Amino acid sequence: MATPIDTVAGLLRDAEATLFVTGAGLSADSGLPTYRGVGGLYERELTDEGIPIEVALSGEMLGHRPDLSWKYLWEIGAACAGATFNRGHEVIAEVERRKPGTWVLTQNVDGFHHAAGSRNLIEVHGRMSTLTCVECDHVTTAEAMLESYGGEPELPPRCPECRGVVRPDVVLFGEMLPANAIAQLDALADREPDLVIVVGTSGVFPYVVDPVLRASAAGATTVEINPVESAVSGIVEHRIAGTAAETLDRLWQASR
Ligand code: OAD
Repeated sequence: MATPIDTVAGLLRDAEATLFVTGAGLSADSGLPTYRGVGGLYERELTDEGIPIEVALSGEMLGHRPDLSWKYLWEIGAACAGATFNRGHEVIAEVERRKPGTWVLTQNVDGFHHAAGSRNLIEVHGRMSTLTCVECDHVTTAEAMLESYGGEPELPPRCPECRGVVRPDVVLFGEMLPANAIAQLDALADREPDLVIVVGTSGVFPYVVDPVLRASAAGATTVEINPVESAVSGIVEHRIAGTAAETLDRLWQASR
């Protein structure tokens, strides 16, 4: 009998247009913490200041107490800066190189898909390493800021041009998706993938689950790779209960 790996490897071999939908579980294999679940960033119910982490990481808090928001943004940024993409990101980029109809919709802010070579990429929650001044819109990078500090951060980081507070170009709690992400999601709705592979997400956001539902209704095959069941487990046709990097590597090997 064919194993789930063999079955999905065959689907990947035959698909011309695969949509990968990825979440924190993919980057967990690079050593980054996930948001929810065991060891996740949201596992601690309250921060040292006695507030939920979702409140600390909200757009409103960044406006009132940028020092407090930045304390936790810094943790996330430092984790991203200290890690890099893994075999799972590489496989996804390789699939795109072989089959240009491949797309990635990610919630991850670590920039690892881009670093691994994916170009048909929707980073729906933005990217942590790009920073913009809330006062003068000056754009800089986390790397450049760190260099200018000589390693030790000033929190909140300040704009080198006007000393305004800078913020990472990511979606914080209570904020809308940026206009370019909305436009990219709209354009994604017009593409018709023949295969959708959802990797390492708990599937809490409708704009992430909708493309899976839509593709499935249009006849695409849907797959989930996640060691634990998630909000999308009930809607996919095939589930592989494995970790992201190892499973994607096995699929890619078996499909060639
Ligand atoms: P979550 O932390 O909600 O979910 C991570 C998922 O990855 C869970 O379903 C885990 O079971 C799974 N997982 C853990 N380790 C894995 C591994 N090695 N391989 C495969 N899967 C694994 O992360 P997301 O679904 O990405 O938003 O969360 C979505 C959004 O919630 C994030 O983008 C972030 C957060 O609020 C913003 O920052 C705006």
